[in-house]
Amino acid sequence: MGKELEIELRNITKVFGSVVAVNDVDVKIKFGEFFSLLGPSGCGKTTTLRMIAGLEKPTRGRIFLFGNDVTDTPAYLREVNTVFQDYAIFPHMNVYENIYFPLKMRKISKDLAHPKIVNIMKLVNMGGFEKRYSSQLSGGQRQRIALARALVNEPRALLLDEPLGALDFKLRVAMQNVLKDIQRRLSITFVYVTHDQTEAITMSDRIAVMKDGLIHQIGTPEEIYNDPKTAFVASFIGEMNFLNGKVEKISSDTIDVLVANQKIQCKSPDIEMAQGDDVLVCVRPEKIHINPSSKMHNVLKTKISRVVFRGDDYEITSIFNDSSIRSVVGYTTWDKSHTVGTEIKIGWEAFNSIVYPLNMQDDIVKYA
Ligand SMILES: Nc1ncnc2c1ncn2[C@@H]1O[C@H](COP(=O)(O)OP(=O)(O)OP(=O)(O)O)[C@@H](O)[C@H]1O
Ligand SMILES: [Mg+2]
Repeated sequence: MGKELEIELRNITKVFGSVVAVNDVDVKIKFGEFFSLLGPSGCGKTTTLRMIAGLEKPTRGRIFLFGNDVTDTPAYLREVNTVFQDYAIFPHMNVYENIYFPLKMRKISKDLAHPKIVNIMKLVNMGGFEKRYSSQLSGGQRQRIALARALVNEPRALLLDEPLGALDFKLRVAMQNVLKDIQRRLSITFVYVTHDQTEAITMSDRIAVMKDGLIHQIGTPEEIYNDPKTAFVASFIGEMNFLNGKVEKISSDTIDVLVANQKIQCKSPDIEMAQGDDVLVCVRPEKIHINPSSKMHNVLKTKISRVVFRGDDYEITSIFNDSSIRSVVGYTTWDKSHTVGTEIKIGWEAFNSIVYPLNMQDDIVKYA
């Protein structure tokens, strides 16, 4: 195994009674990578992380850390630390003592530990808080102390399970930046569990998108957003319109699909398809143009059914045949004389349209 490979899960399965929590998962995480496990509640993220940490034993498969097979190695002998969502710091110790604790466990003297503690406090921007107790800190401050305690031993890899879950939106974003900075500065490999797609997209080098114990796709945020491999990934990350259609013609780099007698040109799918197949046609709301030039590959006549002002843009829902299609239009470009009932043309390019087999329909995450 190459030196740059830090963590490898090889055909990992975890079964709890009748539940397959993790199903034949293969993951390779590189040195210094910010790698996220993303998926809805119950998809197996925590179980996967706990198996890397050694807190759970896989039913099948092998786990490698830094080139060694650690499948049978107990948690305390693995060179990884874990930060959990509800990771509490000890209430009977002040901040300084909390951070000293893991060093003390490794029999490091107070004198040797002191500069390390000072350093890490600075890194999480908590210098001056040494004497405070848990009850005298805000949620975000507690989180930073928990992080400092996990980092003070300088682990090669840090496993984080929804570490920002308890924080409000602004603090969450601030802490995302703190985490990302620390990860870059220390070049520690991060495995980050989240169900928040924005968080995963903005922070990660690569993401594994999971559903029901299975990995649907592993890729960079751009790959996952622009080239989702399944209808589930397409619907879970960002927003997506889905239309039902039938394959009409397949060419080398495009595929034509009939949606209510209208031809929609899409980019060639990765999955093999044949003429006459029932399919789902997708396009993201922000890829749709209102009153597009007639040169655009796909132009549809629709009628507006809803206009929602969202601050810096509008979300327009319009009806084509019996389907609703959502578009996003910038505040300054939206023609405010358009209201419910107005007929508008909408259009998009073939390369912004993806096709999936109809049998992926049940996996689509529906919007409220
Ligand atoms: N100890 C256990 N015993 C039985 N079933 C379990 C156990 N731990 C997890 N499971 C089940 O395994 C599946 C995956 O759970 P897991 O905690 O890994 O999900 P998750 O992706 O972390 O979800 P969440 O986002 O809600 O934290 C779930 O169906 C869960 O009920
Ligand atoms: Mg979990």
